[in-house]
Amino acid sequence: MKLNVTILPANITIAVPYGTNVLEAIRKAKVPFAAVCGGKGRCGKCLVEEVSGLAPATKREKKILKEQSAKDGMRLACQARIVKNATVTVPAARGMAESKAGLKGEEIWNIAPRFSLEKLEIPKASASEPASLTCRLKKALAEKGKEDVEISLNLLRRIATMSSDRIAVLIEGNRLVDVLEGDCEKPICGLALDIGTTTMAGYLVELSSGRQLSVAAMENPQASFGADILSRISSIRRKPENLQVLHQLLINGVNELIERVTDAAGVSREFIYDLVAVGNTCMIHFFLGISPQSLAVAPYHAVLEEAIEVRAPDLKIAINKNGLVRTLPIIRSFVGADTVGAILGSGMPNSRNPTLLIDIGTNGEIVLKTKDEMAACSAAAGPAFEGARILYGMRATAGAIDHVRVGDGSDFEIHTINGLPPKGICGSGLIDAIYASRLLGLMDGSGRILPKESVPGPLRHRVVPWGKGRAIVLTQESETEAGQPIILTQQDIRQVQLAKGAIRAGIEILMRELGLTINSLDRIILAGAFGSYISRESARGIGLIPPLPLDRIVSVGNAAGEGAKMALLSKDVYAESLMLARKVKYIPLSGREDFLRLYLKEMHFPEPPAF
Ligand code: FES
Repeated sequence: MKLNVTILPANITIAVPYGTNVLEAIRKAKVPFAAVCGGKGRCGKCLVEEVSGLAPATKREKKILKEQSAKDGMRLACQARIVKNATVTVPAARGMAESKAGLKGEEIWNIAPRFSLEKLEIPKASASEPASLTCRLKKALAEKGKEDVEISLNLLRRIATMSSDRIAVLIEGNRLVDVLEGDCEKPICGLALDIGTTTMAGYLVELSSGRQLSVAAMENPQASFGADILSRISSIRRKPENLQVLHQLLINGVNELIERVTDAAGVSREFIYDLVAVGNTCMIHFFLGISPQSLAVAPYHAVLEEAIEVRAPDLKIAINKNGLVRTLPIIRSFVGADTVGAILGSGMPNSRNPTLLIDIGTNGEIVLKTKDEMAACSAAAGPAFEGARILYGMRATAGAIDHVRVGDGSDFEIHTINGLPPKGICGSGLIDAIYASRLLGLMDGSGRILPKESVPGPLRHRVVPWGKGRAIVLTQESETEAGQPIILTQQDIRQVQLAKGAIRAGIEILMRELGLTINSLDRIILAGAFGSYISRESARGIGLIPPLPLDRIVSVGNAAGEGAKMALLSKDVYAESLMLARKVKYIPLSGREDFLRLYLKEMHFPEPPAF
């Protein structure tokens, strides 16, 4: 029996078999939606509001809803079954605000794009010199310094029908790619694309000048198959057809991004001729429609590491049909094309002194450079910094606690995104909250929340019993939207310790490999949107990054996207990316005994400064 389900606020109605769960219906309707654990009923984050038509919640669903302190009427999309014609409301897509794309804007390098536009005037044939059209066209090209340009039969047919002698030709290498009649006044564009596991960002640039025309960011549409890459890969394991589904979701998302950037700039997508994509290894595989399953089983290798170039129609990318789609190379396994982009975009190759680059996401990619060498590793940080597996964790959207500091009254001072009543806590808030808790003496170096009686008197109300342990109260119920306190549980703190221990141990391993000590380190570069929003002081204070003076720790925003832009605009930078991927020494962490030892050690928090 088929039933109709309507998904609000998109107002999409689709037919599904009796008993289908809401998450399957949302996926079928292609509505952006985050199912952090991929629908396994573990994360409790796939909340939707039931309007009508769902089977009563099972015991298991009720338990998870209770743990999540979900409001009445909320249901778990992956658990709730459709048993009548149904209507559900999906919360507004918790996508990343465009500002979170962390763009640097108009920075320009020596611009030498792959595609160039030449305006030509084809000399007329005369009775005394009745030269062929191709002869005259080649002469006009030669006058512009373009010798031996190949002209395809199709383009020749088009040029032959043009009434004007003035044409604009688009050239790639020694190949004529396209012809436009008259003087082309529209910008010829390229798109730099950064495909993150959580968010995708696109930068539309004019190829001749490097001018950024527009930018857009959106949630990765694969989120309904899980917040992390492993959930998405395991969905292919369970059902091999999901590879095509996930590939297509990504391509549709990229095409939507293209629509957004072109709409914003008032340019037709037909004027985009080149696209350079970066992303982690798994996202590049999904983008190209290649199964990333080998990344999930030992020895965790990729199918491909090389940079790829294909014509846009081969991937169904909605730019000019003669356009090119390129990816930057992958260094190895989990050190992907986004790291190559971040190295380029952060200017790291030019630094002569020891420099550390950290891009924190679900994986922490770490690169260390000395004068002559570069090494990289990837530390599995897990999704804690994205708010997953944290009781009140949420993405960095309106109402999220994004900063916590110790205020004048020697107590927490909370800041939320857009100044709204707090709804939850995002990654930057989490790091701050833990550091502030250390400063206030609410937790010890092992991460243990101290019993009330060991806490300074005026702060005792901040420690409450929770389950078999304790929790720290960040905001009281009267301050929050849901009328419940927002707390940091012992388990939340452990999740952060696991994440920060892995990243910091990765840093220490790279330092050992290149024979460096913290004292010899000149600069730390924090890349990525998260790196832009975390407090450098708190990151240093909880031991996530080495203890360098703050003026030697810099945030550079979305360096991976910046690197893609540079490779798009400069053939030299693109060539450098190919060389870089071979030059960077990959240091695998798994199975190393010293990594395990360091991991355990680095889970501890350093002593905070006297307060
Ligand atoms: Fe439903 Fe995780 S509990 S997606």
